[in-house]
Amino acid sequence: MSENKMKRIGVLTSGGDSPGMNTAIRAVVRAALDNDIEVVGIRRGYSGLIEGETVELTAKSVSEVIARGGTFLCTARSTKFKTEEGVLEAVESCKKLGLDGLVVIGGDGSFRGASDLSKQGVPCLCIPGTIDNDISCTEYTIGFDTAVNTCVDCIDKIRDTMQSHNRCSIVEVMGRHAGYIALNAGIATGAMAILIPEVPIDIEKDVIVRMRAAMESGRHHFIIVVAEGVGNIDALAEKIKNEVGIETKTTVLGHIQRGGSPTATDRVWASRLGYEAVKLLLQGIGDRVVGVKNGEVVNYDIQEALKMTKSIDKEMYKMAYVVSTAGLERYKKI
Ligand code: F6P
Repeated sequence: MSENKMKRIGVLTSGGDSPGMNTAIRAVVRAALDNDIEVVGIRRGYSGLIEGETVELTAKSVSEVIARGGTFLCTARSTKFKTEEGVLEAVESCKKLGLDGLVVIGGDGSFRGASDLSKQGVPCLCIPGTIDNDISCTEYTIGFDTAVNTCVDCIDKIRDTMQSHNRCSIVEVMGRHAGYIALNAGIATGAMAILIPEVPIDIEKDVIVRMRAAMESGRHHFIIVVAEGVGNIDALAEKIKNEVGIETKTTVLGHIQRGGSPTATDRVWASRLGYEAVKLLLQGIGDRVVGVKNGEVVNYDIQEALKMTKSIDKEMYKMAYVVSTAGLERYKKI
């Protein structure tokens, strides 16, 4: 890494925690220490920054965190920081703490705050950390792989009991307004249907008719994965029970999918992105987001990043339906 004037930086996690955040903090701390930069850990996100709730981080403080889920710095969603007054208090706090820069690990709400701070003279580098994978400027967000794998593990277990009882199971997964977790977990568990906010489907044609056809061809248990952004799953369960004639159970996976030890994929990206963030700060570059494009580490201006859009791969969605129903005579193409 090159020469720089940075002497002391802060690192915080903000928004919903995600597996791999600790690994990213570790990478930031180690990369900074390697360049004789001190690192201050800020507890509870921007709330802790405003209140000056900090902990000095050493190589040792991050020596056992690589495999731990959650964030040892804790996190929060600060309403005060969304106000001009809150931002100015945070800037004051950075001055008091002697911070030359700040690394923010979180989702795009956290990036907006980082951009405000950068404009006030505190260079900020953002690292995408959320299980939802809903940040447009990057193909990948830290925690997504672990969350999908946790969902797959849970759905596989649900499948065992659905199979034993000839039942249908509707499983709701997280993702806020996005369907990335649902799509990937649904494909990986062979779900008969995957409902995500990005793709409107006709329940009658794409679920009910296909289930009846599948039952006629000898299938007696089903998994349907629904992203939380789609809405209530109880009404769908009732409809399936009445119109297909199969006992239908619902499961909301909830916060279980946000915890747990990060997968190797999450650990590797967390390390690479954490290292890159410090590398940019060292070059005097702030107001940027690091991310992944075509499997490579990239970075963007925060405001540019926030304007970007990303969409679900429709071909992948279509494929999911084909491979879950191939061979069924009455299967209707979506
Ligand atoms: O953004 C991560 C996420 O887990 C979303 O998938 C979910 O909608 C939300 O956070 C839940 O937030 P909370 O933990 O505050 O209930």
